[in-house]
Amino acid sequence: MNNLNMTDLILKKRDGGRLTQAEIKFFVNGVSDGTIPDYQASALLMAIYFQGLDKDETFELCNAMRYSGDVIDLSGIRGIKVDKHSTGGVGDKTTLIVAPLVAACGVPVAKMSGRGLGFTGGTVDKMEAIPGFRTSMEPDEFTNQVNSIGIAVIGQTAHITPADKKLYALRDVTGTVENLGLISSSIMSKKLASGSDAIVLDVKCGHGAFMESESEAAELGKTMCEIGNAAGKQTVAVITDMNQPLGCAVGNSLEVIEAIEVLKGNGPADITELALKLTGIMVYLGGRVKTVREGEIIAQQALQGHGGLEKLRSFITKQGGDARVIDDYSLFAAATVQRDFVASEAGYVQAIDARAIGMASQRTGAGREKKEDVIDPAAGIYLHKKVGDKVARGDCIATVYGNNKKKVEAAVKDVAAAYTLGREKTDPPKLIKHVLGI
Ligand code: URA
Repeated sequence: MNNLNMTDLILKKRDGGRLTQAEIKFFVNGVSDGTIPDYQASALLMAIYFQGLDKDETFELCNAMRYSGDVIDLSGIRGIKVDKHSTGGVGDKTTLIVAPLVAACGVPVAKMSGRGLGFTGGTVDKMEAIPGFRTSMEPDEFTNQVNSIGIAVIGQTAHITPADKKLYALRDVTGTVENLGLISSSIMSKKLASGSDAIVLDVKCGHGAFMESESEAAELGKTMCEIGNAAGKQTVAVITDMNQPLGCAVGNSLEVIEAIEVLKGNGPADITELALKLTGIMVYLGGRVKTVREGEIIAQQALQGHGGLEKLRSFITKQGGDARVIDDYSLFAAATVQRDFVASEAGYVQAIDARAIGMASQRTGAGREKKEDVIDPAAGIYLHKKVGDKVARGDCIATVYGNNKKKVEAAVKDVAAAYTLGREKTDPPKLIKHVLGI
């Protein structure tokens, strides 16, 4: 390994060659210990971006990143632990619904989640919108909590996949994010290091996703399933639409409230449908039932009987949060500014640009531009109308919330531009496209 050097690796990949296991390990180790400068790492990433990685290279890169830091041992937790990951989207609060539902169905949830960056949100930021909620804890406490109430969700520790962290930060600023091999190895390195026994991936496609087309998303899902299965963890991918935001709420407190509403049985149909599907698959992979269909049935029962809602209550309480928010939404931080986007003529909603809504939400203060930015939990957007809905002149289409008048007013304009309204009725996009790996 000593006579390897980065210039040779860059030239090899630039000219369409295949990197060996030793070369990939050399690269990942050098990124981790800082001996490879950012300019060379970036050059190799760009060469990979254009030339791609084959299956073996993707597996090797994933493996090298997986073992670049701590690998979590969840063997102290009883039962089959099933993890869930979404490739990111706008208004995606499914973890807040699915985690308590899965736990209510008797399958343990021991999950690490991330923060949001750019136009996509992160579960950790959403959970922190609940007053008092703690998103970090010691490993023993984490294990004990899952064994006692069946659920714990915390932020990812700094010691998991440090090589991926560095490479992802470089990719973010060098135009090298959207590459199948790089995305699949990055996501799966974190999932495999997090210690679960099985994995469900929600792979988004559409304008608000990394992969715009359904076929690219399916290719990403297939590659990640292959990586997970090769590592001995049954992995399932659900390909879902992200052309319009999921549900109606975008922004941290607003999304927690929507998740609670779903668990009370009053949530929007799209997110409820997806949450039940993901729960059904997780309950199946957790060995609780024999088919996904049976899993969906017990998920539905946990929703209707409020088992999921009560699990959320004990989960919030156990992690130091004020569970009274479930019954009293005024306990969430309130926005001081609120502006409506009102329809100037009648028609139908034909499209909502999810990415533009995500960026408008970020502009209100709900999201981060840079990692260090502090987010405003009260800020965000509520979409009263979704694709296919009829609109009358004067109807409120969306409401923007925040604490900075200028930002909120600018965001209303962005929201208006994100909507396509027209005279013809349009059918809403199919949310769940297909499931891979079962
Ligand atoms: N999310 C990740 O964790 N990695 C990627 O490369 C893309 C999305």
